[in-house]
Amino acid sequence: MIEIREEQRREHQEIRQVIVAAFGGDTEANLVELLRDRNKALAALVAVSDNKIVGHIMFSPVTITLAPKTLRTVGLAPLSVLPEFQRQGIGSMLTREGLKKCAAAGFEIAVVLGSPYYYPRFGFSRASLYDLDNEYDTDEHFMAMELKNGALDKVGGTVRYSPEFKECGC
Ligand SMILES: CC(C)(COP(=O)(O)OP(=O)(O)OC[C@H]1O[C@@H](n2cnc3c(N)ncnc32)[C@H](O)[C@@H]1OP(=O)(O)O)[C@@H](O)C(=O)NCCC(=O)NCCS
Repeated sequence: MIEIREEQRREHQEIRQVIVAAFGGDTEANLVELLRDRNKALAALVAVSDNKIVGHIMFSPVTITLAPKTLRTVGLAPLSVLPEFQRQGIGSMLTREGLKKCAAAGFEIAVVLGSPYYYPRFGFSRASLYDLDNEYDTDEHFMAMELKNGALDKVGGTVRYSPEFKECGC
């Protein structure tokens, strides 16, 4: 049985280990810690199996150059599942629950830089279809989805992640 819930302070070290194991390096774990330290973690969830953390997801704010001032957009990153727990639907559970929480908190758009094979199943599609580009010089890997109907009709230009991404080398 997998439980999806918000991360807790006492779990930060265990979460770090999950992220490092999933990505095979420190970069994304450092990013998660920096976003937390700077209060930029808008949603951070863990997947728990038998009291063990097996997955983690974080969302942080992004900006869009051409967008109404009040529009709030969230970036999904990073998403991690322990290698031995992958392909059991845990990444999907974290993603669906995270997107639901962001929508409930009033965010209108979510973006992600990742596999165009994986993320469309949650509702993401190529961001360039909505006149959105990104800082990473990629097209098919950069995707967006509406958390509120019609939100993507109101935007265009460049999506920028928080400066912490560059600081960490992401
Ligand atoms: C990506 C990741 C979070 C998926 O977690 P998961 O729990 O295995 O995912 P699910 O079980 O919900 O979904 C499995 C599906 O995702 C696909 N998938 C898993 N990792 C993938 C990847 N890196 N690229 C493309 N597809 C991937 C599997 O092939 C499988 O496809 P299927 O449903 O058609 O068989 C996990 O593989 C992981 O932690 N990878 C390392 C870190 C990473 O790359 N994170 C994403 C960064 S954007």
